[in-house]
Amino acid sequence: MDHIKLENISKIYNASPKQAQSALDLLADGMDSTRVKAQTGYSVGLYDVNLAIEAGELHCIMGLSGSGKSTLIRHLNRLIDPTTGKIWVNTQLDNSATHKPSETSQKSSLTHNANSAINILDLDDKGLQQYRQHTVSMVFQHFGLMPHLTVIQNVAYGLRVRKMSVSERHEIARHWLNEVGLPNLEHSYPDELSGGMQQRVGLARALATDNPILLMDEAFSALDPLIRSQLQDQLLELQARLNKTIVFITHDIDEAVKVGQRISILNGGRLVQTGTPNELRDNPADDYVAQFMSAKH
Ligand SMILES: Nc1ncnc2c1ncn2[C@@H]1O[C@H](COP(=O)(O)OP(=O)(O)OP(=O)(O)O)[C@@H](O)[C@H]1O
Ligand SMILES: [Mg+2]
Repeated sequence: MDHIKLENISKIYNASPKQAQSALDLLADGMDSTRVKAQTGYSVGLYDVNLAIEAGELHCIMGLSGSGKSTLIRHLNRLIDPTTGKIWVNTQLDNSATHKPSETSQKSSLTHNANSAINILDLDDKGLQQYRQHTVSMVFQHFGLMPHLTVIQNVAYGLRVRKMSVSERHEIARHWLNEVGLPNLEHSYPDELSGGMQQRVGLARALATDNPILLMDEAFSALDPLIRSQLQDQLLELQARLNKTIVFITHDIDEAVKVGQRISILNGGRLVQTGTPNELRDNPADDYVAQFMSAKH
């Protein structure tokens, strides 16, 4: 079942829809994003991306620097809105235990597609707030912990909005700190921890909300190889048990092949190919994909 579906998503930065049209026309004619930028002055984030991510899948997004990876993932929690297109998300897969009945009111007024998904671009401010609280969580490249809060306060932070008591929040946070292999550090401050430990805290914080979709933008890229490998193993182990839908961005093909059930490859804002690691290796869509796959160790 599709959990997330991007439909004809294009993003032209710093242009009104009307201004962007000149860039979209050139892209439709096959011009690459570098030349479009030179000719129109507009940066191409993404062009006509169609992608379905299944529920429970760990989906990697790969590509060189500037290919549009961060642009894509930021659409999924609406840090960025597209120039054109729709983003369908099945919010019926949210953990209903975390919803208050009154909070679902806007959802009933939204149009659903055949898969019971909503177009998240239709959400109003309140709907978007609920979507971010109950559907998507993000793990950041540079951990994004709050330095003045202790480890346990950081992990429990996303639960504060749920009107839980402190003891309830901390019990949940303690559970997730245990799950990521960090017991006994709850009263430490982030700057007392190594990078690998800080990112475990970041992961625990994202998991504590119990949201079904986890967005990870180069989440392990700042870590040493050994620690990075340990976190990859831990993510795979958690994924096998928790069955989250994870969108995982990396520019490292070895990491993508290790953690991704499927990999999508971006080039100049275009989605070149989506497939399992074996499919990409055996039937690369073009030289760009083939070069990635042959660079694998
Ligand atoms: N806020 C912005 N304003 C203008 N152009 C932008 C903005 N953010 C990204 N871009 C452009 O969009 C394109 C895609 O950028 P994006 O950050 O999505 O790439 P990326 O694949 O995440 O790269 P990296 O591996 O370096 O993180 C690039 O050409 C970039 O310059
Ligand atoms: Mg990026």
